[in-house]
Amino acid sequence: MLIFDSGIGGISILENIKKKLPKKNYIYLLDNKGFPYGEKKESFIIQRSIKIINTIKNLYPIQIVVIACNTVSTISLHILKKKFNIPIVGVLPSLDQAIKITKNNNIGIIATKATIKSLYTKNLISKYTNSMNIKVIATNELARIAENKIRKISVSNFELKKIFYPWIILAVQPDTIYLGCTHFSFLKNEIQKIFHKPINFLDSYTNTTEIVKKYFLNTKNNQNIKKNIFLYSKYSKNINKLLYILEKYEFNDISKVNLN
Ligand code: DGL
Repeated sequence: MLIFDSGIGGISILENIKKKLPKKNYIYLLDNKGFPYGEKKESFIIQRSIKIINTIKNLYPIQIVVIACNTVSTISLHILKKKFNIPIVGVLPSLDQAIKITKNNNIGIIATKATIKSLYTKNLISKYTNSMNIKVIATNELARIAENKIRKISVSNFELKKIFYPWIILAVQPDTIYLGCTHFSFLKNEIQKIFHKPINFLDSYTNTTEIVKKYFLNTKNNQNIKKNIFLYSKYSKNINKLLYILEKYEFNDISKVNLN
């Protein structure tokens, strides 16, 4: 199983997959050379994801790919599914659950700029705009803040307030917030603190994990990756700051992969 993202966001997906499928081994690809995807053009994101799957498929016997990134999934999941003959699961924003649990009919969705601009997200939001107040924030900053938090750099309240300012000043604030980027799940506590009332946070890992679990239940394919492998696309000293995370997820093989 290959799980990839531009950074540590996908670890929030991996965490859940690991809980449900503790015996499965995985390859996690941190495409830090491509970070942040949210700033990139659609053509880059499509080409990059094709490159990643092709490269890893040629190096390891992967059975299934999990795109642990909303930006890649909203833009290229449909293309990747057609292009490759192995199962590909994406993390796609959905507002179904938010609609069910909101009490004040005000829902926030926050994601990267590329995700918000994508046709997928535009269609998703327009489906509900007649019946709900849907507030949108597009940010590429929040993913950087999450990357810093994981590396034990403290989260600035001031920065967070700047990002959420459009919602903070509303007379009726969203009571339910959909975190449409896998990085944001690491910042729930900090985001909660800048609002004065409890927020329902939603993200997409439950759906993704269920699909992966179903796949493994229905397949006779034996596990063919014998250890947990962590790959990154660019060397930086920052990688060392992730070592404690890599230990936690039992990666016993860590190396750089060339995606040029
Ligand atoms: N974690 C990614 C997502 O879910 C994107 C972060 C980025 O590279 O901008 O959208």
